[in-house]
Amino acid sequence: MGRLIVTGGAGFLGAGFVHHVIRHTDHHVTVLDALTYAGNRASLDGLPADRVAFVHGDITDAPLVDSLVSRADAVVHYAAESHNDLSLANPRPFVDTNVTGTFTLLEASRTHDVRFHHVSTDEVFGDLGEGSDAPAFTEDSPYRPSSPYSATKAASDMLVRAWIRSFGLRATISNCTNSYGPYQHVEKFIPRQITQVVRGERPKLYGSGSHVRDWIHADDHSAAVLAILERGRIGETYLIGADCERTNREVIERILALMGQPSDAYDHVADRPGHDHRYAIDASKLREELGWMPRHSDFDEGLSATIDWYRTHESWWSAAKDSAEKFYAAREGAGFPADTM
Ligand code: NAD
Ligand code: TYD
Repeated sequence: MGRLIVTGGAGFLGAGFVHHVIRHTDHHVTVLDALTYAGNRASLDGLPADRVAFVHGDITDAPLVDSLVSRADAVVHYAAESHNDLSLANPRPFVDTNVTGTFTLLEASRTHDVRFHHVSTDEVFGDLGEGSDAPAFTEDSPYRPSSPYSATKAASDMLVRAWIRSFGLRATISNCTNSYGPYQHVEKFIPRQITQVVRGERPKLYGSGSHVRDWIHADDHSAAVLAILERGRIGETYLIGADCERTNREVIERILALMGQPSDAYDHVADRPGHDHRYAIDASKLREELGWMPRHSDFDEGLSATIDWYRTHESWWSAAKDSAEKFYAAREGAGFPADTM
């Protein structure tokens, strides 16, 4: 493999993947990242300069992308607009980056016959309904995206599938569940609640909190992507998940308990419009074909380590927290209706 381009490598999962690759392989990495509000160069601190290069640029910039891809052996595509709540407030950048950006990378990869791995989400399948004991998503589940975020990710998956089928692009796709761990932007659920408590504020639960997410540690997500990149069958999709379904209420209560707070010290706020009720992944194909296993299977342990990381890295998240909370205050002020499902 050798020379990887990691798009979005200054974001949560992209940065985690770069650290993982440097720890576990001999590959060289070029990070291509536009450093949007979600990117943070400090997430790449401490990596060896002779193995990691950083290019500040946009994945929709076709000449730049073409020139980088022409010198690479593989593209691992993480860059995206990734937050559902923002996609409801302003969908345009989601179409630009997630759809046009993916298209731009696919064209360069096809021109230079470069291996491509597309990082996507289980949210492309929509949700498993309220109170449902419906079986988890598999690679054969139909696409039913709900939000502008998940719709643009679904569109990008479809582009990758078409480039595989029509142009023989050597590509794979992964769809993963909700990830957590160090370097996650504080707009997202788990780091938002942890940093609320660190600041002496109360966690915020959307609606009733009965919504279910299937959690995986970011490092397990990285290991799965690397396994697919190195050993996955070309043209295939692999679902990534670690069998860790929790309601949002349970997660907030665990965070409060682990941080020494009363378990009811949180606020219910207005629900997200169109809020997907439950996601769950059946990762049998990945486990059986590639022998991948999650290593962080104790959720309490993963949460505790994540809490410690946010407690000791306040300078990494403090400025982002201020702007994220401004966005949330405006959203709550605008009174997101609770019953728009
Ligand atoms: P993130 O928002 O933390 O990071 C996104 C990164 O992409 C940032 O560094 C940002 O600067 C960069 N970026 C955005 N637009 C860009 C552009 N036009 N050009 C270049 N760089 C750009 O996102 P994340 O949570 O790390 O998610 C990464 C990928 O993983 C996304 O494709 C997402 O759909 C997927 N995913 C995320 C999760 C999760 O729980 N976070 C789960 C499954 C899949
Ligand atoms: P999020 O981290 O935004 O990920 P996603 O929307 O991709 O699943 O949210 C995870 C869950 O937590 C989702 O059901 C919405 C809910 N949530 C809250 O209850 N409170 C919050 O402050 C946030 C940000 C999310």
